[in-house]
Amino acid sequence: MWKRWFGKTNEDVTKLEAYKSIDFDKLPKHIAIIMDGNGRWAQKQGLMRTLGHRAGVETLREVVKAASGLGIRALTAYAFSTENWKRPDSEVKFLMDLFSEYLDREIDELHENNVKIRFIGRIEELSDLLQTKIESAQLRTANNTGLILNLAVNYGSRDEITRTVKIIANKVKNNEIKIEDINENFITNHLDTAGIPEVDLVIRPSGDLRISNFLLWQMAYAEFWFTEINWPDFKPNDLLQAVLSYQKRERRFGGLK
Ligand code: FPP
Repeated sequence: MWKRWFGKTNEDVTKLEAYKSIDFDKLPKHIAIIMDGNGRWAQKQGLMRTLGHRAGVETLREVVKAASGLGIRALTAYAFSTENWKRPDSEVKFLMDLFSEYLDREIDELHENNVKIRFIGRIEELSDLLQTKIESAQLRTANNTGLILNLAVNYGSRDEITRTVKIIANKVKNNEIKIEDINENFITNHLDTAGIPEVDLVIRPSGDLRISNFLLWQMAYAEFWFTEINWPDFKPNDLLQAVLSYQKRERRFGGLK
């Protein structure tokens, strides 16, 4: 059971009706979420876009708690892409401050609940202060054995693959490996997500049907679940619905049944 949760009355995923239908032998090991629709959610209610992002943090908290309660191995949430720098400076600054605030506010509780937090993306381009907080959060939770929470910040999949190619090319150049040593596993083990199972289920709220440069290598055989709901309105029950839909799919990985 999740310990201490800001004293808020939150939904306990184990009490939801749909929880009874979950097949625990067929849980997706790794769920990736594109937290989309914060801006639309805010605009619909005449609020500033930034308030949509703030509401999105509340949803993330609920979904992390629910994924942990379900026994999901890894959850990767797309928080800021390498392309998001194109947004107005004020929105970028707001988001960076929000990530910082999130770490300040939630790291104790995540740690208490055995969550291992990791950041993926070009972390070295973030502010020194944010980098310090990220390093300290990663270090503090490094030995936790519960949910692996990956936060993709300044992340782009093509960028990740490009960085990986350079790392591997350097190893060849320095005679650390031979070209023949390079295979799919080798590449997988040099990505930002090294050590984490490949993505089984991708969830994208708010109606857009695209991947947006997210975990392209890792989701090669993932199942997709789309919903019209904007991220701030996404509830633990929607996570259960996505998992139930996933469990009905026949995964063939290119083979026959
Ligand atoms: C996309 O919605 C969302 C983002 C670019 C930011 C996602 C960030 C959060 C949910 C904050 C929580 C994250 C952490 C790590 C604390 P959009 O703004 O593009 O929505 P729109 O398409 O409706 O405009």
